[in-house]
Amino acid sequence: MDTARKDYARANPASAAAFAKAKASGIAGGTNRASIFYSPFPLTFVDAKAATAITADGQHISDFLGNYTAGLFGFSPQPVINAVTRAMAHGHALGGAPNTLEATVASALIERFEAMEMVRFSNTGTEANTYAMNTARAVTGRSKILMYTGAYHGAWIHGGDLALDIPYEKILVPYGDANHICQVIEENASDLAAFIMEPVMVNPWVYLKKIAPAPYLKQIRKACTEAGCALIFDEVMTSRLAPGGAQELVGVAPDLTTFGKYFGGGMPFGGFGGKRDWMERHDPTHAQTINSGGTFAQNALSLAAVDAVLSDLWSPEQCREHNSNADKFRDQINALMRSLNVPCQAYGSGSLMTLIWQRRPVICDTACIDENQVLDVSKHKAVSDAAQLFWFYMLKEHNILAGSPKLNYLTLPVALETVDYQNFLAGIKGFAVTYATELQQLSDVTR
Ligand SMILES: Cc1ncc(COP(=O)(O)O)c(C=O)c1O
Repeated sequence: MDTARKDYARANPASAAAFAKAKASGIAGGTNRASIFYSPFPLTFVDAKAATAITADGQHISDFLGNYTAGLFGFSPQPVINAVTRAMAHGHALGGAPNTLEATVASALIERFEAMEMVRFSNTGTEANTYAMNTARAVTGRSKILMYTGAYHGAWIHGGDLALDIPYEKILVPYGDANHICQVIEENASDLAAFIMEPVMVNPWVYLKKIAPAPYLKQIRKACTEAGCALIFDEVMTSRLAPGGAQELVGVAPDLTTFGKYFGGGMPFGGFGGKRDWMERHDPTHAQTINSGGTFAQNALSLAAVDAVLSDLWSPEQCREHNSNADKFRDQINALMRSLNVPCQAYGSGSLMTLIWQRRPVICDTACIDENQVLDVSKHKAVSDAAQLFWFYMLKEHNILAGSPKLNYLTLPVALETVDYQNFLAGIKGFAVTYATELQQLSDVTR
């Protein structure tokens, strides 16, 4: 790791200088987004197109990170450029009055999500989740929010204790044991406003975006209905897995759905919606209106971009095809790793996957987690070191951004081409050969 870090620092002096300048400029910590910081310093991008980013040091790299899902369509997708350029020339953000793009985007979204009759927009996923939770609190007249231990729903919504969290009473449950979760819902029913979750398996230490089993989610759905609390699906990331989101894949309808990230085609966008009973209080003429909305919640630049995404870049067919190709890519990685006897699993659903460097199964596929099958990342530093080493290796030897640096979380952009996937497979094979001895040791400790 030391050698890899030193090589990285030597190869990227301009990124190092850019980061040092950002720190000296007064940006606290040198970046406005803690999740994109890594040691010794993050790469700085100076240009990009489609699936290729260009670093400050002039390296052209294929992007398998996809900006943590927000970059689904690659860099500078032409339909988004066209739509935003048009909007810029016709009143810019069109602030101060309603604009016609709002209805266009609302209808298109409602058509895709069966559980959604009404919708509202925001600028980020954090905002969307904050709105959804507070909508549930207003409608139910209750105060508490249930979520998974280790969940992430935005800058100030965590399944843990962080100083930034918005102050409401949180109840935390571990993912996995539906009976226990339903019991907690029942016991807290009198003051429980909502259960917010991503409809995926959850592990506090890593991105696991494999869809949770349908029977598990159905049992929780039933408990929420009986308790009268809202089931909120945070589909900020997972909605890309099917035209109607992960909820379509499992056949479970939440009361409120939230979304964001990729829908804006790179522009800031978020939203939330659900059935009329949950959403109608946002109507300013409602007797008990919540009176919601922000200055930029209907800005025409973002809405033009979302319109372009929904009409030109992400039809139901395009969505299905991309996820099915990604399933095949994941299978290819797993087959290759098995054939080379390497302790690595590509784990996830569709175009969201994480490489997990351990031998033992990641998590069981039933509703109940066996303690022995949780991830080793928290137990063995070597598992997370392997991910980082792989990331440095792919950057240096194959000009590939292999997902997130610390956890190899890959959110595949549609802009990637066959040759990029082939290069990735060649790269992971090269890594397995180069580090055969170390990977054998890793295999032994994670058996
Ligand atoms: C599942 C999930 N929900 C919400 C958010 C917050 O979205 P944003 O960063 O746009 O506020 C994120 C961001 O990573 C996320 O992963």
